[in-house]
Amino acid sequence: MLAPAKINLSLDVLGRRDDGYHQVSMVMQTIALFDRVHVEEVSRSGVFLSGGSSEAPPDRSNLVYRAAALVLARAGRTGGVAIDLVKNIPVAAGLAGGSSDAAITIKLMNRLLGLGWSLAEMEALAAELGSDVPFLIRGGTALASGRGEQLTALPAAPTFWLVVVKPPFGASTPRVYQALGAPPYPGGQHREGATAKVMAALAAGSYGALIAAVGNDLEQVTIGWHQELQELKEALVRHGCDRALMSGSGPTILGFTEHEDVARQAAQAIEQSAYWSGYGVWVAKTLTEQEGNEG
Ligand code: C5P
Repeated sequence: MLAPAKINLSLDVLGRRDDGYHQVSMVMQTIALFDRVHVEEVSRSGVFLSGGSSEAPPDRSNLVYRAAALVLARAGRTGGVAIDLVKNIPVAAGLAGGSSDAAITIKLMNRLLGLGWSLAEMEALAAELGSDVPFLIRGGTALASGRGEQLTALPAAPTFWLVVVKPPFGASTPRVYQALGAPPYPGGQHREGATAKVMAALAAGSYGALIAAVGNDLEQVTIGWHQELQELKEALVRHGCDRALMSGSGPTILGFTEHEDVARQAAQAIEQSAYWSGYGVWVAKTLTEQEGNEG
């Protein structure tokens, strides 16, 4: 089954909580850039993970391993599963690849083991694995609040295309959040962020309003550390994208366009430039919840 990447259309940080997380309000969107997860029942008990990559090795540290072990424990099953993971989504990129692999593992095991869990039950389990995992149970377009685990469905975003550019370095989500120096939550003051405007654009079904509204509070931190990301944003716009934005805690930069050919031309320009050598480039369109479930 395909495990889609997610992007942020908005990411407002409302403040730092006592439990070590940040209170956020963000609009999440799945895109057609996929890992692949395959699960089979085996006679031996335990979780047997293969595949992955050097950055996401098939061992106990992998979120897929932890997801599968959690499902077996909660379901009270003593049997085992063999899972093969094919990675394509870049790691530590702000695209929630590991979270999506874990979410799809829960969905596949629910079906394979006949557990009969509802989407809401799977989302609750997913929240134990990470803040972004619940969103990836359903995907599509959703508002995520709390630490990211509280979901509200939103009107599907108008279909558009993304140039996805991953620098040859990663970003640590805890480090990025910490460096933001957000005020305590509750309390403190938060200026109005991008989320309300993105939601209004989605309600109006307007791509133009949407790209004018997108924003990410974490950009200032990661781009502050890596000035070349600002140059990359400018290069994507120069090559035809309507807007460019960092995804999640970064460092992946997204270029937005309504046109597939514009996306492919911009992607090719970045790929062929010696200046951006070592940067990974993909072209992907947005997915609806429905399309995600057909994968
Ligand atoms: O939930 P997850 O395991 O993905 O979070 C990893 C880390 O990122 C947290 O331990 C925390 O340091 C930071 N984080 C945060 N606020 C969020 C989500 C993550 O501070 N809403």
